[in-house]
Amino acid sequence: MEKISRRQFLGMSTTMAAGTLFTGTFAPTATSFFGLGGVAEAATKKVSPFTFAILTDAHLYDIADHKFDAFLAKGVADINAMNPLPDFVLYAGDIGQSGKDSELKKGKSILDKLKMKYTVIPGEHDWYLDMGKAWRGYFGDDHWSFDHKGVHFIGMNSILVPDFWTMAGLTPLERMGRMEELECHKCGAWGVGSQQLEWLAKDVKNVSPDTPVVVLTHSPLWDYYPRWNFQTSDAPEIRSILRKFDKVIAIHGHVHQVIYNKLGNISSAGLLSTSWPWPYPPVELPYPTIKMNRVDPGNFEDGLGSHAVALSQDFDGILNYREFAHLLPDNVRRGLKL
Ligand SMILES: [Fe+2]
Ligand SMILES: [Fe+2]
Repeated sequence: MEKISRRQFLGMSTTMAAGTLFTGTFAPTATSFFGLGGVAEAATKKVSPFTFAILTDAHLYDIADHKFDAFLAKGVADINAMNPLPDFVLYAGDIGQSGKDSELKKGKSILDKLKMKYTVIPGEHDWYLDMGKAWRGYFGDDHWSFDHKGVHFIGMNSILVPDFWTMAGLTPLERMGRMEELECHKCGAWGVGSQQLEWLAKDVKNVSPDTPVVVLTHSPLWDYYPRWNFQTSDAPEIRSILRKFDKVIAIHGHVHQVIYNKLGNISSAGLLSTSWPWPYPPVELPYPTIKMNRVDPGNFEDGLGSHAVALSQDFDGILNYREFAHLLPDNVRRGLKL
C-alpha cells in the first residue's frame, strides 16, 4: 500500500470543511467556502501568505476589435482592480485561436497592461502553425519553475503530440486546423513528452517533500475526457514524480469550465476562459456539486471570468472564480478550497 501523509488521509476521510483557515495580510473574498480537499494540517513548510491571479483561453482572432479582445482586456482590468493586488499572474494557454503571430502579438499587448509580472504556458491553439516559434518569441520558455514566498511554481507545455503531419503531407495551416478541432481523431493524445518529464524530475530532485508546490498545465493532469484532450497522456508519470510532495495544487486551462478533482496528494482545478464556456462532457463528474450552471446563450459574457488563488501559511488555497456574469453555483462563488 502506498504511504499516505496525514494530510492525504484527512483529505480522503473528510468531504466537507468550513471555516476560515487564513492568517496573514490577506483574506479570501468569501467568509466561508466549499471544502473538498480536507482540513488544515501543518505538514508542509510554512508559506508567507499571498494571492496570485490567473487568466486563460482568450482565443484571440486576427480580426480588429473582436469581442474576445475586449473580454481579455476585461480580465486584465479586473485583476488590476484587485485590492490588494495579486503578487503575479499566471496565464494557462490558448492566447490565440490559430497560432498566428498577429494573435499572439495582440494578446501580449493586452496582457502587458497588467500591473504585475505575468508568466505564460502555451495551449494547442498557440502552437501548431509554426510549432511555437512566434509564441516563444513573445513569451519565452514553454516550461519553467520559480519560487515565491516558500512555494515552488512549475509550468509545463502539455499539448505536445507525435508528428501526425509529415507523413500525411499537411501544410502548417492544415496542421493547425486539425489541432484547432476539439475532437481531432488523427492528432493523438497530448502530453508533455520525455524531455519535459526529465526536466521535471531534475527540477524537483532537490526540492524537499514538505515544500508547497503549484503546477500549471494547459490540460488536466488526470483523465477527465480524453476525446477532447481533457487529459495529459503522461500525467501518471508527472504525478509519480510529484508524489513525494505532501501537497500539490494543479491548475489547468483548456476545459473552459469549473471542474475539480483530487488524486492522492494533488488537488486539481480547471479555469474559466475569457472566450466561451465548453459544455460538460458526457461523463460522471468527480464532484458534481460544483458544476457551473448552464450559460445564458443571450449573454456573451456568461461563463467567462478571471481567477485569484489565495494561499494561507499552511498552504490551504482558495480559488475564487471571478465570473463576468452570474452562472456559478453559490458554493463555488464563495471560493473553491484547493
Ligand atoms: Fe481553450
Ligand atoms: Fe486548449
